[in-house]
Amino acid sequence: MRTIAFVTQKGGAGKSTLASSIAVAARRAGERVFIIDMDPLQSLVKWSKARKTADVPVEHVPPAKLTKALAALEKKGVTLVVVDAPGADSENSEAAIRVADLCIIPARPNVFDLWASELTRASIKDKKKDYAFLLNQCPPAQQNARVELGVKALQAMGALLTPLVTARVDYQEAARLGLGVSELHPDGAAAQEMRELWSSVKRRLKKGAAPVKAPTKAEAKAEAKADAKPVAKLAPKQETQPEDAPQEAVVVAEAEAPAKPQAKPAVKKAA
Ligand SMILES: Nc1ncnc2c1ncn2[C@@H]1O[C@H](COP(=O)(O)OP(=O)(O)O)[C@@H](O)[C@H]1O
Ligand SMILES: [Mg+2]
Repeated sequence: MRTIAFVTQKGGAGKSTLASSIAVAARRAGERVFIIDMDPLQSLVKWSKARKTADVPVEHVPPAKLTKALAALEKKGVTLVVVDAPGADSENSEAAIRVADLCIIPARPNVFDLWASELTRASIKDKKKDYAFLLNQCPPAQQNARVELGVKALQAMGALLTPLVTARVDYQEAARLGLGVSELHPDGAAAQEMRELWSSVKRRLKKGAAPVKAPTKAEAKAEAKADAKPVAKLAPKQETQPEDAPQEAVVVAEAEAPAKPQAKPAVKKAA
């Protein structure tokens, strides 16, 4: 069983959106997935209530019960746990980092998210856990100066997962309906992004199989450079691009769906 945690001290970066959609993509690729929602707001518990099937169960678990919950999930044959952390440095996000095989730090291509990523990375490094960044809500025209600055800043701090995730209505619509983007429009661009993202994460999990990953020479050099050079310098202030895609008002569907772990994945599909 592997555990990935979406963490960043910045709310709105896309933790819950990406956690739910990658969980569904992994499920469709044959994993037995369980989501642990550690955010007191319980966005993904609400998402699972809107979901009609219980194939990707979600449970809110407080930090004190996390280790026990993970042991129980492993016993049940779950192969992938996706932890969604709150958007603040708290006991909950600390606990999420501690149990993760890989911490994924999503950031939008704006300087506030990049600053927050730097703080989150420091906290993860303190705990000697593996991490990778993810650039989310990129404007559709990817050759954008703001995106390029984001890519450079994150690459300088550590691994940046591929692909860059674009701002797409599918992510918002899928979340509203309790779906992953690969269920909403299986042939859509967002679905393709999530399949690719799951492949990247899987590769990264294999690479960092040892609990404490020794960085490669190149990574160590890049990290040392990033430590010496604050993100403010990597992502200078001359940002003139318009802000990200408009934020949706999250509509929480009332439909109740039992959130129980399911036996075997029905759909087997290569990522
Ligand atoms: N790739 C994306 N494209 C469009 N909207 C997105 C995308 N990622 C996140 N959002 C939207 O941004 C908002 C914040 O995302 P959310 O997942 O709640 O962030 P967090 O969990 O980090 O606070 C939500 O309204 C969500 O629908
Ligand atoms: Mg959230």
